Amino acid sequence: MCNTESIQLIRNKKLIRTASTQNSIIFGMDVEKVLDALPEEPLFDLVVTSPPYDIGKEYEKRMPLEEYVLWQKRIINKIYPRLKDTGSICWEVGNYINNGEIAPLDIELAPIFKELNMPLRNRIVWHFGHGLHSKRRFSGRYEVIMWYTKTDDYFFDLDSVRIPAKYPGKRHFKGPNKGELSGNPLGKNPEDVWDIPNVKSNHVEKTIHPCQFPVGLIERLVLSMAPQDGLVFDPFAGVASSGVAALMNNRHFWGCEIVKEYIDVGMRRLQETLDGTVKYRPSNKPLYDPSSSRLSEIPNEWK
Ligand SMILES: C[S@@+](CC[C@H](N)C(=O)[O-])C[C@H]1O[C@@H](n2cnc3c(N)ncnc32)[C@H](O)[C@@H]1O
Repeated sequence: MCNTESIQLIRNKKLIRTASTQNSIIFGMDVEKVLDALPEEPLFDLVVTSPPYDIGKEYEKRMPLEEYVLWQKRIINKIYPRLKDTGSICWEVGNYINNGEIAPLDIELAPIFKELNMPLRNRIVWHFGHGLHSKRRFSGRYEVIMWYTKTDDYFFDLDSVRIPAKYPGKRHFKGPNKGELSGNPLGKNPEDVWDIPNVKSNHVEKTIHPCQFPVGLIERLVLSMAPQDGLVFDPFAGVASSGVAALMNNRHFWGCEIVKEYIDVGMRRLQETLDGTVKYRPSNKPLYDPSSSRLSEIPNEWK
């Protein structure tokens, strides 16, 4: 089924307001309803999302962990038949927290993917610098992206996301290639720990959403896991950061979101992406060096 027919199917359910730009659409309705309205046919090249973690953000309703996992399972099971055989799912998660006890959601959700026989390719650690300061445990400064593929025949374009090598001039020092350059002229594999600033108040991408993805984080996934003109789907789209990463790189985007204000901001960002005016921090921009700030000096009171 082609995308236009699928979109028409959802619209015919008359459940929603949809909003679209060229090559993108945000379905303003519950993701389960959107998925139920779609044919069980492979549509998506890449599904990338950060679901609510049920930690009491303004868009979340609190539910017990068991109930939360069942809800996530229903959604992932509905996505699975709609994912292409060459496709990937990237589920970005942190911790569910209850009475000071943490439950890492990658561990809680892994059995869902295992039951679907989806191989885990990487557990990418996204490390960032800012967040709440904990008093009774170490402050949390990373989340993980669980990258699963549907089959072994998955799309992966490593060359599109290589980063500069530390020692590009390094040469083989023995063996048949002795004296030849040992690295790749396109750069090195970005590895599975990514240091990318999270979107806090002074970040250029900051909007009204309390928990945005940095676009640079998703861009790496989009470039390496979805082909040109492929379809990227974010079931919990928020302000469409995945969509910005997709449109910037000539992929199509579908998202679902239930909060009207987020849909409005998301649509604005998608249009700005098409116009070339969207605010964006590339993933390869060097991290801010705080040592040049006066705030990094020890205050007199502490000397
Ligand atoms: C962690 S946020 C995602 C933020 C997003 N990655 C971004 O960069 O803007 C999760 C989003 O899922 C939305 N959401 C919650 N339940 C939903 C549902 N049943 N269907 C669709 N969206 C939902 C929330 O409103 C929230 O914006």
